[in-house]
Amino acid sequence: MYIIGISAFYHDSSISIIKDGEILFAAQEERYTRIKNDSSFPELALQAGLGYLKILPHQVDAIVFYEKPFLKFERILETYLNYAPRGFLSFLKSMPPWIKEKLFQKKIIAKKLIQMKFSKDIINRIYFSDHHLSHAASAFYPSPFQKALVLTMDGVGEWPTTTVYTGVDSELKKIKEIHFPHSLGLLYSAFTYYCGFKVNSGEYKLMGLAPFGQPKYSDLIKKELIDIKSDGSFHLNMKYFDYCTGLKMTNKQFDNLFGKSFRRPTEPILQIHMDIAASIQLVLEEIIIKICKSLKSDYPEYTALVLAGGVALNCVVNGKIEQEKIFEHLWIQPASGDAGGSLGAALAFYYNELKNNRVANSDDQMNGSYLGNDYSNLEIKNFLTEIGASFHFFPNEKSAELLNLVCHELCDEKAVGWFQGRMEFGPRALGNRSILASPVPRDMQKKLNIKIKFRESFRPFAPAILEEEAWHWYNIKTTSSYMLKTATINKNYQNHVPAVTHVDQTARLQTVNKKTNLIFHRLISEFYKKSQIPMLVNTSFNIRGEPIVESPQDAFRCFMGTHLDVLVMNSFLLYKDEQPSHLKSDYRESIED
Ligand SMILES: [Fe+2]
Repeated sequence: MYIIGISAFYHDSSISIIKDGEILFAAQEERYTRIKNDSSFPELALQAGLGYLKILPHQVDAIVFYEKPFLKFERILETYLNYAPRGFLSFLKSMPPWIKEKLFQKKIIAKKLIQMKFSKDIINRIYFSDHHLSHAASAFYPSPFQKALVLTMDGVGEWPTTTVYTGVDSELKKIKEIHFPHSLGLLYSAFTYYCGFKVNSGEYKLMGLAPFGQPKYSDLIKKELIDIKSDGSFHLNMKYFDYCTGLKMTNKQFDNLFGKSFRRPTEPILQIHMDIAASIQLVLEEIIIKICKSLKSDYPEYTALVLAGGVALNCVVNGKIEQEKIFEHLWIQPASGDAGGSLGAALAFYYNELKNNRVANSDDQMNGSYLGNDYSNLEIKNFLTEIGASFHFFPNEKSAELLNLVCHELCDEKAVGWFQGRMEFGPRALGNRSILASPVPRDMQKKLNIKIKFRESFRPFAPAILEEEAWHWYNIKTTSSYMLKTATINKNYQNHVPAVTHVDQTARLQTVNKKTNLIFHRLISEFYKKSQIPMLVNTSFNIRGEPIVESPQDAFRCFMGTHLDVLVMNSFLLYKDEQPSHLKSDYRESIED
């Protein structure tokens, strides 16, 4: 049976398609509409998925939405009532879209589907999951474990912000939860906002800033902002936060606590911002480690822990959980944010609701997170020919000649746009929609940040390293296929790869496996042969503020609009200096941050 999961109307809309529990397709709407974190109904992603799998609407047995609109509405309404009349302004601002779009979601979803040629009775096959059940399901069902504890942490869904489930065979059971407004996701977002970054997408920048600072304020945070119990459960002091009643995350008292008003995005980043970033990161780590330890002591029979929810994208915390060795096994859903909710919703319906049998195996079920659509050589050739681009064609994309030429360019310190196969699901590019470069040159980080990504120069890059070499270079005993854990580089290699080594000697690495991405593995192996370095810089194929490229058109446009030197799309190799000058474009201004 075909089940479609949908996540939409908040941020990061997506769809996932499963068949008899097997994950067949998953993609975010932003990739198609080219609007970062697009929250609209994921019509284009759904069209792409149905087209890719050649499924007709009448073959779809169930549509499952990732959360329950009425419960979410109840939470919002109750929050406003509790704080009345303080929250009146945001109440007025929030209500119209809630009433129109969120409260009557079943009808809206049905209407959209009918416009897409689904039959009218589709409304009887639309179901609703819980927000945190969707996260939990996205973590447990694709994991390689038959039995695991599941920890979900995010901003907020309906009421819960943190939940713990037990996952056994095909059943998920909630055993603990913490409710709004007490939320690790919102706490971290409050600091993201205070430090001048965008809430819901700038959390990464805050994490990247942390190693530049000292955790001078962590005691103050624990004294004033959050009360942490011995089991890791927590209670926020709401007098410092404004997200229940206002349209901002923090208030004047928060500013006073740190002796400085919040940073506006255009203002410079100062040492205090770095120190604050380091402080909140440390507090977050402490809380999550406490939660994990308490879970292990309460449920010693569980040897595996799985994570999802936006907070699980904090790869520094994930790295710490692993280093502490609290659980023997750890698995994290690569699309841990709300995009992954569509996948969890579909899986929760199939396993938890319909009680179908589930057998985990040693590999996870994510197919390397390469779950989006791909493009054929013919489609790429037609596009390149039509626009008059200059290209070289290598009949087999795994051809040694192509890989050789690309490696030659990488060794020559060139930046390469690398577009292969199926698009990644989740926020990370894992070698199919990536920008690649040598990690060796000292100025590579700056070059990539400023000339190609058009973003802040401090932003770190991640290495994609051959899985079999990872332990040799980094303090890591397991794999990190989804770039979701940081590890420290071993002492003897500390100066070898400056472009991917953070100021605290860590890296957010991706271990590349032959089985899930053969061509990427072969490319890195080739680079290894030539340079003695078994890794490449791997950053997402986009510029600041733009979603990761989806199509050959997007990739070519990014190639021509930045200082990328080389573009590879399947079997096609393009050099920038061979392109006709009229194809050059500067599209930096058209992208909103
Ligand atoms: Fe969430």
